[in-house]
Amino acid sequence: MTVKVLLPEKLTICDHPIVKHNLALLRDVQTRPELFRNCTKRIAEFLFIKASEDIPTKQKVIQTPMMPANVETIPESIEIIVAPILRAGLVFSEAACEVLPSARIHHIGLFRDEETLKPVTYYNNMPDQVDKAEDTYAYILDPMLATGGSAIAALKVFENLEIPEHNIKFISLISAPEGINKVHTKYPNVKIITACVDERLNPDGYIIPGLGDAGDRAFNTEY
Ligand code: PRP
Ligand code: URA
Repeated sequence: MTVKVLLPEKLTICDHPIVKHNLALLRDVQTRPELFRNCTKRIAEFLFIKASEDIPTKQKVIQTPMMPANVETIPESIEIIVAPILRAGLVFSEAACEVLPSARIHHIGLFRDEETLKPVTYYNNMPDQVDKAEDTYAYILDPMLATGGSAIAALKVFENLEIPEHNIKFISLISAPEGINKVHTKYPNVKIITACVDERLNPDGYIIPGLGDAGDRAFNTEY
């Protein structure tokens, strides 16, 4: 059964040729963990750059070796939070940190119960409050958006922080229509940035065609 995405305007698919090329390598069952991690990082950079293009900049004048120049920079008043979902989001966050080194990294530990497919939270180091909620931009990173259970659990962590919902982005490598709809039903203003929307989930909750278990493939824990 094909599931249609509910809010297509809240979904950005980053289908740059370099993203497509690396995604093909990720999907390939022959790809070993080191290459898998490298391809993930490469795609993550593109996705993170795309997701962060609405961060405001402020004009100022600096002195080049030649003359004064009008430039734009991200003001210090802007707070950036990068929230990787463990485990597989860790690889993603390395790329995000290189692009925006001043980001605060807050890890969220979640895994899916294999029987129920419900998320189980085992770690959360998000603060209880943030100082400049209105000026905070948050990026939740997880390679796979499948049933959406993990995404919803991660988004719940942000609920009491008063960060405007439209400043919160969910970044994934591969998304299933079921997961996109689940996120947008509960959080209609959260934008999802992804490299690809796959066909569907299989009865075990895996994305089809997908790439298998992202955490196991990245960290070589497939047995
Ligand atoms: C994977 C993936 C997501 C989750 C997505 O994690 O990295 O966090 O599944 O599935 P959902 O949308 O149905 O919730 P997993 O539970 O395999 O944990 P791991 O990264 O520790 O392997
Ligand atoms: N988690 C994964 O790692 N892969 C899937 O296809 C679904 C959930």
